[in-house]
Amino acid sequence: MKELITFNQETKVFHLTNGRISYLMEIDNAGVLNHVYFGKAIRQYHGNLSYPRMDRGFSGNLPDTTDRTYSRDTIPQEFSSNGSMDYRLPATVIRQADGNCSAAFLFKDFRIELGKPRLEGLPATFVDNDDEAQTLIITLEDNEANVEIDLLYSIYRDYDIIARSTQVRNVGYQYINLEKIASLQLDFVAKDFDSICLPGAHANERHIERQSVGYGIQTFESRRGTSSHQMNSFLALVDKTTDEFQGDAYGFNFVYSGNHSFEVEKDQLAQIRLLVGINDDNFSWELVSGKSFQTPEVLMTYSDKGLNGMSQAFHGIIRDRLVRSKYKYQERPILVNNWEATYFDFDEAKLRPIVDEAKNLGVEMFVLDDGWYGHRNNDTSSLGDWHIDKEKFPNGLKGFADYVHAQGLKFGIWLEPEMISIDSELYREHPDYLMSVPGRKPSPSRSQFILDMGRREVRDNIFKQLDNLFAGGYIDYVKWDMNRHISDVYSLGLSFERQGETLHRYILGVYDLLECITTAYPDILFEGCSGGGGRFDAGWAYYMPQSWASDNTDAVARLMIQYGTSLAYPISTMTSHVSAVPNHQTGRITSLATRAHIAMSGVFGYELDLTKMSDDEKAAVKSQVKGYKTIRRLVQYGDFYRLKSPAQGNEVAWQFVSKDKTEVLLFTTKLLSEAQPKFTQTKLVAIDPDKTYQCLDLVETGVVDQKVGYFDSIYATQPIQTGDIISGDELMNLGIYNPIVRQDFATQLYYFKSN
Ligand code: GLA
Repeated sequence: MKELITFNQETKVFHLTNGRISYLMEIDNAGVLNHVYFGKAIRQYHGNLSYPRMDRGFSGNLPDTTDRTYSRDTIPQEFSSNGSMDYRLPATVIRQADGNCSAAFLFKDFRIELGKPRLEGLPATFVDNDDEAQTLIITLEDNEANVEIDLLYSIYRDYDIIARSTQVRNVGYQYINLEKIASLQLDFVAKDFDSICLPGAHANERHIERQSVGYGIQTFESRRGTSSHQMNSFLALVDKTTDEFQGDAYGFNFVYSGNHSFEVEKDQLAQIRLLVGINDDNFSWELVSGKSFQTPEVLMTYSDKGLNGMSQAFHGIIRDRLVRSKYKYQERPILVNNWEATYFDFDEAKLRPIVDEAKNLGVEMFVLDDGWYGHRNNDTSSLGDWHIDKEKFPNGLKGFADYVHAQGLKFGIWLEPEMISIDSELYREHPDYLMSVPGRKPSPSRSQFILDMGRREVRDNIFKQLDNLFAGGYIDYVKWDMNRHISDVYSLGLSFERQGETLHRYILGVYDLLECITTAYPDILFEGCSGGGGRFDAGWAYYMPQSWASDNTDAVARLMIQYGTSLAYPISTMTSHVSAVPNHQTGRITSLATRAHIAMSGVFGYELDLTKMSDDEKAAVKSQVKGYKTIRRLVQYGDFYRLKSPAQGNEVAWQFVSKDKTEVLLFTTKLLSEAQPKFTQTKLVAIDPDKTYQCLDLVETGVVDQKVGYFDSIYATQPIQTGDIISGDELMNLGIYNPIVRQDFATQLYYFKSN
């Protein structure tokens, strides 16, 4: 077995490489662990290309030396600390019992392990066998501070991923307080970067924002208690010329669902420092003697093949080595969800016809959304009371589930387990479960409040309720929602000195509950949700193989949201539904084909009242459902390539290719129609140049259908006809002319197969 990690005793260099990427570190003559390189693989590093030394004014030196060319303020390091004569951002701030916050870490020792250790209580990538990865654990120490830090680096053999995290140990006799602890530090020299982040808002998540990295500090963060709609827990640093297909791209994906921060600092020498970790806002952690703290992990990747290369590394590792559900490689059921069909206004009698229609159209699962429990007729009550509303469901939940099952459909429900309404039995019995600051009135958001999930008794109560619900065995799917962010941060379970632990303990508590529930009920398919895509993060994927990407179901808005989401997350995690027009969030009208094509580029379903559709529309839905079943495996588990970005022009395109390159699905659209359009082309990528591909009968599979909807006027020739045979090199080098359609947001899905 080839070593993935080596240490050269002479040069004191650590080298992590899988033959495609390399990561190099060096212990310098002062004992400081320097960062040397991260990027394309180096076969052998001879140790002669170290960072130069120079006497820089106002960058001080090590104690007890006269060497003025050595300053921690300039050298690239693996782990910086407060008070170590490094004025750049520290990776850690540790307050000692006497109040001082200084530390300066030096190399102590290291070990190399086969495989990858689990991180206690935290989601993390894993290995199926120890051959797949190796882990380097470097221990740093500060004797005055009586603290040891383990830096963990796991490199995978078959994925271009290094997983990094940090463990802090109090090896002294007195307590210490962690005030900041990064999971990753990465220093770059001589790099002129753009950053790419995924900001957004509720119903407007994960837009691509690319900007120049300038002098000073820029932070991409969440302080809302969750990974948030507002700034996703992902960041890329790329060269100015990097695009989807070429150029250096460094990607960072934080495996954590709480407050995060990605800090980017450009220093006095135009060097870049990146720190990723739990946000230090409202964070502190008391470590008594002998105790340790483990940070969540960050997945980092490097690609010289631009953003698609970076994304594919994340798609692979998340799909294969982070998602654990038994559904990870299964084709996910096509569902209909009643939220936008009925909102809170439903009972069993009203839902049954939707179930019947779903059956007729080939839909595979019915999901009962918010409003089935307690006495919840609007969003002001009953959160915390997870038992059926008998007025709406006289036969109980099981009675309705039996009906759905009898139609041959699976049955799913919506839950929001981390929440409490004032108007609830749970609040009447346990008002103290609601997170609030003693003596202050807590702030409502969507008329609801947060349960203090850091407390065991609170989790136990919720676990018992969910256990009762699931034990009947008639629930096949759960949509786990969270419809507000955390405020009034205070835990009755913690002493006053430890209040800074509340938010992280909340997340650890939620992870603990998820671990218990998903272990007890492995047959339930769980879908994450937080007011749409407010908790679309890698940590969540460990417990739930898919997540609702956004409450915005408008096809055009979804085009942007799904494009952005794909930068960091695989398509199999991204759920996407066809809803009614005018769209409930934007008022926009798009054709049924457009809505379906965009939703079919994710984990597919419907979110409308199927009984209210015309016969023509129902026929189209039937054909879409049939078509999606044909392409489902390809979409959910094929390789995904972004071709044309909505951020860059009037056209958007993406493509799915099966691993054996025999199946290809191409999605194209022109956003705004033009009266005198230029002819444009879309070139496919990464297919087999020597294979011939046939364009399949798209109408029959429901894959291209411009006829249903308000538009039916193609006034130019269609460039590709069903049955056409085209070779791979033609598709990649000549490309397909995009059709001219007199309609905004007209979309096409081309399905090619070769023998
Ligand atoms: C959130 C979800 C929606 C729906 C509602 C119900 O907003 O994202 O899909 O489930 O809650 O209240």
